[in-house]
Amino acid sequence: TVLVLDFGGQYNQLIARRVRDLSVYSEMIPYYTPLAEIKVKNPRGIIFSGGPASVHVPGAPVCDPGIYELGIPILGICYGMQLMASQLGGEVRAAAVREYGKSFLEKCREDALFFGLPTQMQVWMSHGDLVVNIPEGFQVTARTGDCPVAAMSDPERKLYGVQFHPEVRHTPLGDEILKNFLFRICGCSGSWNLQDFVQETVEEVKRRVGQKKVLCALSGGVDSSVAAALVDLAVGKNLTCVFVDHGLLRKGEAEQVVRTFREERGMNLIYVDAAQRFLDKLQGVADPELKRKIIGHEFIRVFEEEARKLGQIDFLVQGTLYPDVIESGTATAATIKTHHNVGGLPEDMQFELIEPLRLLFKDEVRRIGEQLGLPPEIVWRQPFPGPGLAVRVLEEVTPEKVAILREADAIVTEEIRKAGLDRELWQYFAVLPPVRSVGVMGDERTYAYPIVVRAVVSEDAMTADWARLPYEVLDVIARRIVNEVKHVNRVVYDITSKPPGTIEWE
Ligand code: XMP
Repeated sequence: TVLVLDFGGQYNQLIARRVRDLSVYSEMIPYYTPLAEIKVKNPRGIIFSGGPASVHVPGAPVCDPGIYELGIPILGICYGMQLMASQLGGEVRAAAVREYGKSFLEKCREDALFFGLPTQMQVWMSHGDLVVNIPEGFQVTARTGDCPVAAMSDPERKLYGVQFHPEVRHTPLGDEILKNFLFRICGCSGSWNLQDFVQETVEEVKRRVGQKKVLCALSGGVDSSVAAALVDLAVGKNLTCVFVDHGLLRKGEAEQVVRTFREERGMNLIYVDAAQRFLDKLQGVADPELKRKIIGHEFIRVFEEEARKLGQIDFLVQGTLYPDVIESGTATAATIKTHHNVGGLPEDMQFELIEPLRLLFKDEVRRIGEQLGLPPEIVWRQPFPGPGLAVRVLEEVTPEKVAILREADAIVTEEIRKAGLDRELWQYFAVLPPVRSVGVMGDERTYAYPIVVRAVVSEDAMTADWARLPYEVLDVIARRIVNEVKHVNRVVYDITSKPPGTIEWE
């Protein structure tokens, strides 16, 4: 294990990510984690992340200086290096100019961290402070034009620091630097893989649960599906999954979940058809936020009713991922948040959480899903909002409109898949606006709904760009929707990015 001490930098998740991609298990922990806890984890190496603070600011995050005495190799990145310098007796000062962007690094001497690397290389800088005096026992190993100490090391104590960010792609040789740290300096073997991880997780859940009862809210999305399949391997029939169908799912989705989990995997699955209940509640409601609230509230009510029927439940499975856990950067805040994720389940329902994916990134979860034999339709499912088609039937939701949208959406999905574009796109779907327009079909005038096609590329849904779909694909989608979906006579394509648009229309 290599521990990443989190000082709040924006690239921190990437550090753990890169290390794991190099087949070394890595976990991120808060900077104030007590030394005793770090020792128990017995890491091969420790990485100090970057962070937005300056070491001079009162209350700046600092770690226990005893960490330097553990004899464990440490790599400080950006703020991490500045902290190391200041804690060990060096000097850090505000730079005359904030350095941000690409820089050229020049090695000053041979160093294990830069083993096998060229004398000059491109690196990514983002800092306002500089190390101006290195601590005793250290040597300067690299510099840039603006930064006299761009890297430093004390090979004796195995302490290393870099002012730049080796974890980002703008440092093209960053992986080589991390490899030198992991394999040359820490002596990691690089044998970690997801298969071992699955086995260990299953064993751990088995030990924890014993013969007790476990409940899982299955949505059919990637995270809850993989979490359920993993826990099933560990506890089998002691796990009950509840799948609430609010009648706002996409075509074939509910059937797929039942087939996969109940029929193919033989798991305990309670399928709740609550479509009518949700439609009743949504009747006459046009306000998007109100629609969301009603659905969220009703969802919990239904789930709670089912859970109560099962009697005493000891554990609840959640598909929380690593980015959710460490978003806040603190372990304590993370638990509070996950409890909230349970979504207002009543206080008197006592259970412990099982979060088998809490150390994984999304693409790792997908790989595990494949290993566990989940179908590609589930493993590669695009993100889908909890309120489902209700936020894509704009304004009031009626069963007729949901049916129209569902058919149109199925055509979009099918054609995007056929064109082999599904894994490149973040989301692709249909929207049904509350307007009608005139058209002509055969010799007849029509007056019917348009369908909006939305397809976007994105990294994380925070920003998105409209997808440049090939005209031929758009053409097939438009023709098929107008020909095959009743009450639709027109198809338009949304060419708005986010911002200023959002991905969804409500
Ligand atoms: P927007 O429309 O804000 O959406 O650009 C960003 C991402 O979030 C998804 N989304 C939701 N997911 N419950 C969810 O679980 C919701 O109420 C919800 N609303 C939007 C959306 O699909 C996109 O991926």
